[in-house]
Amino acid sequence: MCGITGYLGFREAYPIVINGLQRLEYRGYDSAGVVITNSKKETNLYKTKGKVADLRSIVEKNDATGNLALGHTRWATHGEPNDINSHPHTSNSGKLVIIHNGIIENYDSIKKELTSRGYTFKSDTDTEVLINLIEEVQKQNNYKLGKAVQMALTNVVGAYAIAVYAIDKPDEIIAARLGSPLTIGIGEDNKEFFVASDASPFIEYTKNAIYLDDEELAIIKLGRNIRIRKIYDDSFVEPTINALKLNLEQIEKGGFEHFMLKEIHEQPHAISNTYRGRLLADKGIIKMGSIDNNIAKFLNAKRIIIVACGTSWHAGLVGEYLFEDLARIPVEVEYASEFRYRNPIINKNDIVIAISQSGETADTLAAIKLAKSKGAFVFGICNVVGSSIARETDSGAYTHAGPEIGVASTKAFTTQITVLALIALKLGNLNGELSNSAFQDYLYKLQLIPKKIENLLSINSKIEEIAAIYKDAPNCLYLGRGFNFPVALEGALKLKEISYIHAEGYPAAEMKHGPIALIDESMPVVVIATKKGHYEKVVSNIQEIKSRKGKIIAIVTEGDTTVKDIADHIIEIPDTEEALSPLLTTIPLQLLSYHIAVMRGCNVDQPRNLAKSVTVE
Ligand code: AGP
Repeated sequence: MCGITGYLGFREAYPIVINGLQRLEYRGYDSAGVVITNSKKETNLYKTKGKVADLRSIVEKNDATGNLALGHTRWATHGEPNDINSHPHTSNSGKLVIIHNGIIENYDSIKKELTSRGYTFKSDTDTEVLINLIEEVQKQNNYKLGKAVQMALTNVVGAYAIAVYAIDKPDEIIAARLGSPLTIGIGEDNKEFFVASDASPFIEYTKNAIYLDDEELAIIKLGRNIRIRKIYDDSFVEPTINALKLNLEQIEKGGFEHFMLKEIHEQPHAISNTYRGRLLADKGIIKMGSIDNNIAKFLNAKRIIIVACGTSWHAGLVGEYLFEDLARIPVEVEYASEFRYRNPIINKNDIVIAISQSGETADTLAAIKLAKSKGAFVFGICNVVGSSIARETDSGAYTHAGPEIGVASTKAFTTQITVLALIALKLGNLNGELSNSAFQDYLYKLQLIPKKIENLLSINSKIEEIAAIYKDAPNCLYLGRGFNFPVALEGALKLKEISYIHAEGYPAAEMKHGPIALIDESMPVVVIATKKGHYEKVVSNIQEIKSRKGKIIAIVTEGDTTVKDIADHIIEIPDTEEALSPLLTTIPLQLLSYHIAVMRGCNVDQPRNLAKSVTVE
């Protein structure tokens, strides 16, 4: 789950690559490195344990000139985060250099073979094994670099996005991918090229990008069109150049202290962007081409299986309540990592919906491939255009949340729920489970959500006050019922992943079956008690906590008069239909975890041990 980037062209390469690494740092941030070669074939390689900023301070005291460079920011898989194991890695001869995102699963057997041929290894990484394999293949067959990389990769098992060059040929980069994302930026008249894990490192230089597909290798040579070949059958691939819609402003903090806070505040915009052109309330319709084109499959579906990981899995759980309540279609929500190895039963009338913000999560991708191999129709809900999952699924719908850079997912969650609500409402109306008047009412209510979130965000400072009280709590419980049970799980995940406080989410009624034993005066309990969601039942759960001196932070519907007399803190949210309430109840939970993490001095955008997209299993 590393970030890789490279430049070949007429500009100074180092500034482009180091700024690119800064933008990719959300992908991994335990060590970083860069290699730079100038036209006189002089090469400098710098790498260090730590952040891109640490690398910057090392390089900027040294020579960084050259028009060719590769850079890497790491999330360690093989070999602990240290200077030696950080990338780039060089071959034994020192002539070849590589950056790599992914895992070479059979690196150990290759290493043994190469060692028997006299190769030595400085690091514990799989990547150093790969570059020496490339060197050996080139030596044995006198291949050009492109061919040597291709042949070497046919011996490799695992996932990779790599960029390789020979320091004595500083006008060429070889790039290849299987499983990990790789985008190539093309400058005017082939005078410059960019390679990167995503387009963010080069969007101000070019809007022309190629998304390399799995098992593809690109030969990138200055002044020439890019040549792409299939690694295994050597067939030629006609490159597809996409026009990027991303802009610089979107990937900068816009005056907020952290990307996470910016992205929380972007949710009104993200949600209205997500239903723009799809939710036509005045016309009383929901227009979604990818659903319309497959409507028979959806209406005849015997079951919907949702596969995802982390926060996307929580959105899937809200989706289960939406489909079953609004369209009466049975749903199962599966952890992709379990689903892919459980040999699941998939029938031909089953539809599989795969949810992923990044579109690169390895377990979800594998679950999709498994479902397809068993004949299921797979529909994707992704945020990153051109991502692996978006291209692997049979059809799908994008959440138009814009780039989500904070590792803790926020706007992706609410836009995923928005897409799921649009699909469930449409199917419910078409299969007659939802009357036209109820359907119409939902359309207007959904249309009002962005405005309601905008108003809700004004409680930010109140949440900050509550956060100050509980920032040192060792544990925290989150409770919700029905549509808001998944929101309780999501609230707990947010607190865990950015503040490192142990937190658990539970169906409120489940408390009596165990967790209630945890409650005493030091346990903060966040309870979602919306007016239309099993309200009386939740109120009695709150009283059970109160009687055990638990500290209650209650999320209630505006104008609530009951809970405020029991809870220690109440956070009012605007009223809406219970099925849509997760789009509102989740906001205060995002803000609470954010402020607590900030007050505990945690790195909110890059929490320890995490990375934005988990491209290895
Ligand atoms: C959520 O805040 C985390 N970043 C993580 O749980 C994430 O949701 C999970 O890794 C799934 O990622 P995806 O949506 O990109 O597939």
